[in-house]
Amino acid sequence: MVGKFRRANSSSKPMSRTYFPYLSRFSSGSRCSMSIVVWSLVGFLIILHLYTLISHTNIQSKVTHTSISRNPLLSELEVVEEENIQMPPPRRRSPRAAKRKPKRPTTLIDEFLDESSQIRHIFFPSMKMAVDPMKDAGNDSFYYYPGRIWLDTEGNPIQAHGGGILYDERSSTYYWYGEYKDGPTYHAHKKGAARVDIIGVGCYSSKDLWTWKNEGIVLAADERNETDLHKSNVLERPKVIYNDKTRQYVMWMHIDDANYTKASVGVAVSDSPTGPFDYLFSKRPHGFDSRDMTIFKDDDGVAYLIYSSEDNTELHIGPLNKEYLDVTHDVRRILVGQHREAPALFKHEGTYYMITSGCSGWAPNEALAHAAESIMGPWENMGNPCIGGNKIFRATTFFAQSTFVLPLPGLPASFIFMADRWNPADLRDSRYVWLPLTVGGAADLPLDYSFGFPLWSRVSIYWHKRWRLPARWSA
Ligand SMILES: *[C@@H]1O[C@H](CO)[C@@H](O)[C@H](O)[C@H]1NC(C)=O
Ligand SMILES: *[C@@H]1O[C@H](CO)[C@@H](O)[C@H](O)[C@H]1NC(C)=O
Ligand SMILES: *[C@@H]1O[C@H](CO)[C@@H](O)[C@H](O)[C@H]1NC(C)=O
Repeated sequence: MVGKFRRANSSSKPMSRTYFPYLSRFSSGSRCSMSIVVWSLVGFLIILHLYTLISHTNIQSKVTHTSISRNPLLSELEVVEEENIQMPPPRRRSPRAAKRKPKRPTTLIDEFLDESSQIRHIFFPSMKMAVDPMKDAGNDSFYYYPGRIWLDTEGNPIQAHGGGILYDERSSTYYWYGEYKDGPTYHAHKKGAARVDIIGVGCYSSKDLWTWKNEGIVLAADERNETDLHKSNVLERPKVIYNDKTRQYVMWMHIDDANYTKASVGVAVSDSPTGPFDYLFSKRPHGFDSRDMTIFKDDDGVAYLIYSSEDNTELHIGPLNKEYLDVTHDVRRILVGQHREAPALFKHEGTYYMITSGCSGWAPNEALAHAAESIMGPWENMGNPCIGGNKIFRATTFFAQSTFVLPLPGLPASFIFMADRWNPADLRDSRYVWLPLTVGGAADLPLDYSFGFPLWSRVSIYWHKRWRLPARWSA
C-alpha cells in the first residue's frame, strides 16, 4: 500500500510454458516428417484438452455432491449478490481542469477515490449507518455490513486497520490487533504518501466475532525518543501468534521510516494477549528489504514470516525460530516478478492458500489467490477469488485490500476474509470489509506446474452487502 513503490512495468511477467520451440529443430528436415510431428503434437494437445475437460467435469460433479452433504447453512454465504451502481451525471469541469487532463470517461474507481463524489456514501456510509452491536438490533444482530463504520462496545469506531485475529484457546476469546489510526492524515512532504503518525497497535476482544471490546493500545508509539516506534515513523500490519513453548504472545509488524526506506520487521512480546507488549528490535529479515508482511502459525507449531521484498517485486517466506523471535537462515523467493503485497495465508486440508493484492498505493486493485502443497513453495496463481458485486467490484477486491483470513472452526472449508477499504483522504476513517471465503470446486486457471490439471480447489470470496455467520455457528 505504498504509493512510492508502485510499479507500472511488469517486465518480469512469469513465463508461460510453450511446447512449440522444439518445432524449429525439424525445420531443415523433410516436409513429411515435419507434418507428422505437427499432427502428432496437435493430436496430443487435443487428447490433453479432452482429458482436462473430463477431469474438470468429474471435479465439478464431486463438488455439487459434497456441497449437498455439507452444512446447508453455508449455501446462504455462497449466494451471489450483484451490485448495480448508477454513475452520477458528469460534473462540469473548469476550463483549466479540462485543459490539463484529456477528458476520459470517469470510472467507478475515480468516484471511489474522489472525496467529493456524489456517490461517496456507497463506499463510505456515514456514521448514521454505523453497525452498533450494543444497540438492540433485533433482526439485524450479528450482521456484517462491509464498508460501514463498525462500533466497539463503547460506541467508538473500531481502530484496527491492516490487522489480524488471534484465537486465544486459553480464554476462548478472539483478539483483533491492528493499526490504531485515530489521528490526522497528512503528507510529510510533497512526494510523501498520505500518513497518520504512529499511535500504536489497537487490540479488541470478542467471543462472537461481532461484538468487540476495546482492550486499549497494547504497543504504544514513543512520543519523545527517536526509536522505531517514534510517532514520525511507520508501523503497519501487526500480527500476533501464541508460542506454546515460551507461553508468550509474539507480535510481528512492518517497521519503516516516513519514506519507507527502512523496510524492516519489528518484533514485540507479551505474557498476556492484551499486552502491554515489549518491543524487542527491528531488522531486515535475511538481509532483505521487507514491507507488507504477515506471519502464519502452522499445525505443527512452526511459524513463518512472509514479506514483500526486492522493492515489492516478489515475496519471501521462511520459518521463524522456535521462540518466534527471529527468522532462521531458511528462506525462499516466491511469486517472483509478480509485484504482490498484503499477503494473507491460510491452510485447508493440508494445502496452503494465500490471498495477495497488487501494488497501487492506497488505491484498490485486483486480488489473486495462490496455492501451494508445501508452504515454502512453489506457489501457484489461481486467479481472482472475488465473486459477485460487479466487474469493477471484482477488479478492486470490493474496493479493499486483503489483510487476514480467519478460519471458522465448525464450519467446513469456511473462513472470514478480512480486508481494508482505505480512505487516503482520512485514513482513520478506513473501513473493514469482512466477507465469507470458501474453498471448493475446480480452480479456474490452469496451473503452471501441473500441465493444466486442476490440483487444487477454488478459493471464493462472496460479495454481500449484509451477511452473517450461520446461526448455529459458535466460536
Ligand atoms: C424481524 O423479522 C420478522 C420475520 O421476518 C418480522 O416480522 C419483524 O417485523 C422483524 N422485526 C424487526 C424489528 O425488523
Ligand atoms: C527515552 O529514553 C530514555 C533513556 O533511554 C528513557 O529513560 C526514557 O524513559 C525514554 N522515554 C520514553 C518516552 O520512552
Ligand atoms: C524523506 O524524503 C524527503 C524528500 O526526499 C526528505 O526531505 C526527508 O528528510 C526524508 N525523511 C526521512 C525521515 O528520511
